[in-house]
Amino acid sequence: MLYPTQLNTETERLYEKLHRVGWSEQDCELIAPLTLEINQLKKEKNAIILAHSYQTPDIMYGVADFLGDSYALSLKAKETNADTIVFSSVHFMAETAKILNPTKTVLVPAVAGCSLAEGITAEDVRQLKAEHPKAGVVCYINTTADVKAEVDAVCTSSNALKVIEGMPQDEIIFIPDEFMCKNLQPLTQKKLIGWTARCIVHEEFSPETIKEIRKEYPKAKILAHSECNPQVINEVDMMGSTSQMIDYVKTTDEEEYMLVTECGLSDRVQTENQGKKIVGSCAMCPYMKKIMLKDILECLKSPRPEQIVKLPEIVIQKASRSLEKMIELAS
Ligand code: 13P
Ligand code: SF4
Repeated sequence: MLYPTQLNTETERLYEKLHRVGWSEQDCELIAPLTLEINQLKKEKNAIILAHSYQTPDIMYGVADFLGDSYALSLKAKETNADTIVFSSVHFMAETAKILNPTKTVLVPAVAGCSLAEGITAEDVRQLKAEHPKAGVVCYINTTADVKAEVDAVCTSSNALKVIEGMPQDEIIFIPDEFMCKNLQPLTQKKLIGWTARCIVHEEFSPETIKEIRKEYPKAKILAHSECNPQVINEVDMMGSTSQMIDYVKTTDEEEYMLVTECGLSDRVQTENQGKKIVGSCAMCPYMKKIMLKDILECLKSPRPEQIVKLPEIVIQKASRSLEKMIELAS
């Protein structure tokens, strides 16, 4: 049973953050019973909620214990002492948590894919390896556990170049993101062999949009995720991972920024940087936005079978080698 004072305090706590991205007090009042129950269940079950920065603000500021990019979230999952990890993000990130910390219960509030992870199979990787037997194989973390089990090292957008440079081979199969591969090629002497998968969110942005934003907001710094088309990257001031974009805004002193990425990041940056304005448009990831507070509550209360991440032992063993390689090369 919830007391009115508890609800008022929770509404105030939520409103303090969420009003910065347009939430009203009434909106916060509506979700307060949910966030209170989730936060209570977390304590009772010794659970931690890890959320990607593309999640909605009610999740990020209402119930998440840790926000981050895919690399920071992986490290957090590996280190946690909690019994249960609720991964509020797409499925490949939750699988990664299970691989790095297999004795924990890893829960996904909703089973959410990713166009990059769906864009390549383990069989495709085996064929590529047969075609280029001398090449090292690096896969982006946005892949299934089966694909990670086939490669030499995993990388994320924040450490891709370090991982590529740390590999002993001069030729690297870099999969599956076509655009990220093209964006990295000019930054390394190694020959990168790519694949053709794309992020359906980042491929929406065009160089024309960036030029229009420049005209409208000539003082704005424009930052783009490395999953964008190289023609878009040519037009912007900085390319990076979600966390690198957050750090850029925090540590620079401009009045206006455009974030060429998913809308959750604009919400996060706007919430955490009062006085700085996010301009232009963002794009919604239909996979990331599948997850809602009610799903988090449901899986914490009593997870359905599909909300519990399960992987074959052999896949965990093989994929953990390539993930540990990333951690070794990135740190
Ligand atoms: P980050 O590792 O930069 O958070 O990227 C993950 C992702 O899915 C971007 O679309
Ligand atoms: Fe996948 Fe793109 Fe969504 Fe990231 S934004 S989860 S890469 S579809």
